Amino acid sequence: MPHPQDISTTPEWAALEDHAARTARTTLRELFDADPERGTRLALEVGDLYVDYSKNDVTDETLALLVRLAEAAGLAEKTEAMFRGEHINSTEDRAVLHTALRAPRGSGLVVDGQDVDADVHAVLDKMAAFSEQVRSGEWRGHTGKRIDHVVNIGIGGSDLGPKMATIALAPYATPDIRSSFVSNVDGDDIAAVLAAADPETTLFIVASKTFTTIETITNATTARSWLLAALGDEAAVAKHFVAVSTNTEKVAAFGIDTANMFGFWDWVGGRYSMTSAVGLSLMIAIGPDNYRQMLDGFHTVDTHFRTTPLERNVPALLGLIGVWHRNFRGAATHAVLPYSENLSRFPAYLQQLDMESNGKSVTIDGSPVSVQTGPVVWGEPGTNGQHAFYQLIHQGTQTVPADLIGLVHPGEEVPGHHDQLTANLLAQAEALAFGKSADEVRAEGVPEELVAHKTFAGNSPTTLLLAPRLTPAVLGQLVAIYEHKVFTQGVVWGINSFDQWGVELGKVLAKRIEPELSAEEEPELAHDSSTNALIRRYRRLRRS
Ligand code: F6P
Repeated sequence: MPHPQDISTTPEWAALEDHAARTARTTLRELFDADPERGTRLALEVGDLYVDYSKNDVTDETLALLVRLAEAAGLAEKTEAMFRGEHINSTEDRAVLHTALRAPRGSGLVVDGQDVDADVHAVLDKMAAFSEQVRSGEWRGHTGKRIDHVVNIGIGGSDLGPKMATIALAPYATPDIRSSFVSNVDGDDIAAVLAAADPETTLFIVASKTFTTIETITNATTARSWLLAALGDEAAVAKHFVAVSTNTEKVAAFGIDTANMFGFWDWVGGRYSMTSAVGLSLMIAIGPDNYRQMLDGFHTVDTHFRTTPLERNVPALLGLIGVWHRNFRGAATHAVLPYSENLSRFPAYLQQLDMESNGKSVTIDGSPVSVQTGPVVWGEPGTNGQHAFYQLIHQGTQTVPADLIGLVHPGEEVPGHHDQLTANLLAQAEALAFGKSADEVRAEGVPEELVAHKTFAGNSPTTLLLAPRLTPAVLGQLVAIYEHKVFTQGVVWGINSFDQWGVELGKVLAKRIEPELSAEEEPELAHDSSTNALIRRYRRLRRS
């Protein structure tokens, strides 16, 4: 499939550079003053979400030029290639088919000879049956007690998605089963969970696509030893451990009965896997019906992304506006600010989704990129962030584009809270966009020496996503929007958003260093002088 290897050499890119230079001084105040309809015209609905992108410094011309850029990059063709199962993850020679995980039964999708439709729904059915068994108490622990605590052991994509979603959908969870997540190889993580767990009533889900990830295997091994020490019988493992993986052999080698394994496939990237069997802990918490509604939410946006013209395509437009900020306005970071405590882990989830996907510096053919790629993604829930880092967004020296996420109804209606929360959300979007001029400050009688300090430049771009409430379907819609936004940007930059070779070097070096830290004898060290000194210091202090 033809794609420009260097997007910056295209006339579409040059047109945007020219346009950016011409509009560099345009303010959001001017844009809003010039068009009274702007606030409703630059807004779209998808699924249950209302997406207002009017407070970004874009004009109709900007958007038209961005759409042309996406066309030049072949976005529509590449989207189709992804949905059809072509091997667009070329460095790993894999299809990229997370969208198939939420396609309704009967899609008929067959890829590389695999009946994807049948396989996906067979696993979903198996997950649903198992979840019901655990939720109803039919599934019993080794000593005959019902399960009241599910611990997901996984890291990266095998942790962030289900953990984020379990917190987000807490109002939908059964009160009978507690959910915990262990990810860090820091023993303090699992120690805290095990300290509050009862071996007779705890079920461990070991989630690892590869089943070789050192953190997960170390934590799972610790959990198994803890269980065996308490229950004293190898047979207990079958009742208290299940696995989620693509690697049957390794699951069996670890000692988990493969009958208790929930599979997925190499065409599901780790950070795109929350709708695969990796979602098992979530399904147990919220039940299969709610889980299926979440999948439907994903599918709504998948279909929208695949079929809607770019001018009205929410994920594509958000991706393109992100390209505008990153490449034509020089923004190095992108903040995600949910006004929802239940979305507290959403920024962390998006960090992997976005940064592991688009943190690349070579194009698909291996040549260096000539433009900036993925921004640093970060964020915290509002209003907490307002009392921490918003100062820099309002008055610092760099532009920080942000997504603000709001809900009309909270998870829990506590009198006196929600309108305050939403007032803050709307106020921040307004303040960031329009600021407060020096003249306005003076008009308030502020002494001249403080005028500069109390002036707000405004022009901080935001997109506001508003949903009626955080239902499973809405969560699915939100995540899918970001998945396809990231895809859109990867296509424009000409990179492979679906590999992650950048995580390998540290893993290899850690394997070499670990025995140097634990060896009885002083090891021969051949690192740089800094690393050698740190290893020696650690060893000395560890043994003192
Ligand atoms: O180290 C990065 C990574 O490979 C992620 O892409 C992945 O989500 C995570 O590790 C966990 O991998 P696995 O599910 O194979 O344990």
